[in-house]
Amino acid sequence: MALVTSKEMFKKAYQGGYAVGAFNINNMEIIQGIIEAAQQEKSPVILQASAGARKYAGPFYIKKLIEAAVELAPELPICMHLDHGETFEICKECVDDGFTSVMIDGSKFSFEENIALTKKVVEYAHQKGVVVEAELGKLAGIEDNIKVSEKDAIFTDPDQAVEFVERTGVDSLAVAIGTSHGAYKFKGDAKLDFERLQKLTDQLKGFPLVLHGSSSVPGYLVDKANQFGGKIDNAKGVPEEMLRKAAGMGVCKINIDTDIRLAMTATIRQIFSEKPSHFDPRDYLKPAREAVKQMVAHKIKNVLGSSGKI
Ligand code: G3H
Ligand code: 13P
Ligand code: ZN
Repeated sequence: MALVTSKEMFKKAYQGGYAVGAFNINNMEIIQGIIEAAQQEKSPVILQASAGARKYAGPFYIKKLIEAAVELAPELPICMHLDHGETFEICKECVDDGFTSVMIDGSKFSFEENIALTKKVVEYAHQKGVVVEAELGKLAGIEDNIKVSEKDAIFTDPDQAVEFVERTGVDSLAVAIGTSHGAYKFKGDAKLDFERLQKLTDQLKGFPLVLHGSSSVPGYLVDKANQFGGKIDNAKGVPEEMLRKAAGMGVCKINIDTDIRLAMTATIRQIFSEKPSHFDPRDYLKPAREAVKQMVAHKIKNVLGSSGKI
């Protein structure tokens, strides 16, 4: 199958009522863990690199590591995606570099500025066969006492979303319905604005939506990290059943980074604590890679529903 855009993946996911996982990658072990899980589950997968990931590993390493995965797992549809591209230039660089999908994140700009920037990226990317994700609305958790007017100012407006998609020609849209990045997503109970999501799906029939900030921050991983010297207090993520529900409502791409970080760190902390005399990095990176695999396999199978969809 090799390297593909997300076009076909999203079409099938939309029709099948499931979502494709977009997992953030930063190094070899993370890529290997994700790919082993996708192979085990026979699932399509999106490997996404942020600007920070490209800076950390170096753009050349990132690209070559993904290419290695594509070559070694030829049975899998794999999409190489730029996560949160901030400028036209970084999107262009990734398009020119062989990415099959880029995100232009103009969510911090005004509606018109976001449209202009997204349109520019779409025009460049499409002529090279690359698909584009954009973002409309601001990612933030729903506070218990938030007013409707405040929610409207932050979250994605369905009417604006329709206009945005029409005027930009974008291929998928990240929407704000209460998810946010990191390990501290909600102060009180976890809540997503499913009413808004339903309106978005109704008004954008057949169009793939994207959910960022979709880690669930499992309690067992937080507890394990804390048990072995971590200090991660009051962390809270998006409950898995909410993600499953969203996957059946037109959300075709679900972004997960924090849970990978937690799985690796909790595992490495345990080894440092239990085997203080060990200093071969393979002694902790191998189990950390296995922890990524277990976590990603669980997401694919029990949360996203993309097992067997290659
Ligand atoms: O949404 C952001 C992703 O979690 C990537 O994070 O910019 O620290 O690589 P990063
Ligand atoms: P999490 O921080 O919830 O894993 O979200 C990741 C993300 O949205 C990457 O773009
Ligand atoms: Zn994100």
